[in-house]
Amino acid sequence: MDTPIEKKKVMLSGIKPTGDLTLGSYLGAVKNWVERADLYDNYYFMADLHALTTRNNPADLRRRTLEQLAQYVACGLDPQKNVLFIQSHVPAHAELGWILNCYTMFGELSRMTQFKDKSAKNADNINGGLFTYPALMAADILLYQPDYVPVGEDQKQHVELTRDVANRFNNLYGETFRMPEPFIPKVGARVMDLLDPHSKMSKSDEVGNGRVCLMDDPADIMRKFKRAVTDCDCTCCIRYAPEEKPGVANLMSIYAAVTGKSFAEIEAEFEGKGYGAFKPAVGEAVVETLRPIREEAQRIMKDKGYLEALCREGAERASYVAEKTLRKVRKKVGLVAK
Ligand code: TYM
Repeated sequence: MDTPIEKKKVMLSGIKPTGDLTLGSYLGAVKNWVERADLYDNYYFMADLHALTTRNNPADLRRRTLEQLAQYVACGLDPQKNVLFIQSHVPAHAELGWILNCYTMFGELSRMTQFKDKSAKNADNINGGLFTYPALMAADILLYQPDYVPVGEDQKQHVELTRDVANRFNNLYGETFRMPEPFIPKVGARVMDLLDPHSKMSKSDEVGNGRVCLMDDPADIMRKFKRAVTDCDCTCCIRYAPEEKPGVANLMSIYAAVTGKSFAEIEAEFEGKGYGAFKPAVGEAVVETLRPIREEAQRIMKDKGYLEALCREGAERASYVAEKTLRKVRKKVGLVAK
């Protein structure tokens, strides 16, 4: 008798190409995707429609979207095993996004921390897309019926809203969407700015020395780590105490995430040594982690034919699954079949 083939669970996630990918996007997101690639059926995309909620130079947005695809592959996401695609190449996202807007409440959207933060930072461009962004994100997720959505800490609230919207829809129309779980990494879930350990390292903020990008050259990375803010206490000891020593805790989290060492091991390694030894050691570990990724991404970026084929194949595979969910939804809400 044939043994039944167990169906793999589904993972899905995305990143907005609003800036060059940072160490935060890598440790909080892509690295964890790569580590779990064989265990799940995976869908990873460039959230270019989401990027339109802020103003971009069009040529930069196009370059960053393709560069992000090259970086996904360079980080180790095999395009045969993972469906890699550009969000706007699968029109079902925009269509389900609209439909779910009609099942997402004004009050829910108003409570989103990211909306409050972003509108405070960009008071001259608080557009409708920024406000309804979580409904599009819910569509991104629910189209693929994933079990898990691996994200950093800051996106957890959006995944929780997705569950509320899915639940509302399922209660109204019967089981339609699978309930996704956020999947937050133990270390690296919140990489902070090297110069301001109270705000997250962000790819969209002004160019800064507090942010390390995957494509930065090694000398730049070392300079940024050497200048990283540590905490003024008389001991200069390397100890994990996020409240008292947020700068050191951030560097320790980064070091832990790239070397796999525990906080206790790091404290022992640097016992009796000060920040002067610790900061360059973190810098070097990051340089060595990012070096092969940068070199491979640069090589892929030069191969336009390969990149185009990747985009086309990814969009076809994603559309096949997304359209199936969308057909079900269209029927349930009362749209006439095409
Ligand atoms: P975005 O583009 O801001 O960030 C992409 C992913 O990287 C994580 N991340 C971080 N993790 C740790 N430390 C940091 N400093 C850091 N900065 C970013 C984020 O948590 C995220 O997992 N709305 C999403 C994109 C999106 C999406 C989706 C994600 C659109 N649709 C559907 C999952 C599923 C966003 O703006 O992420």
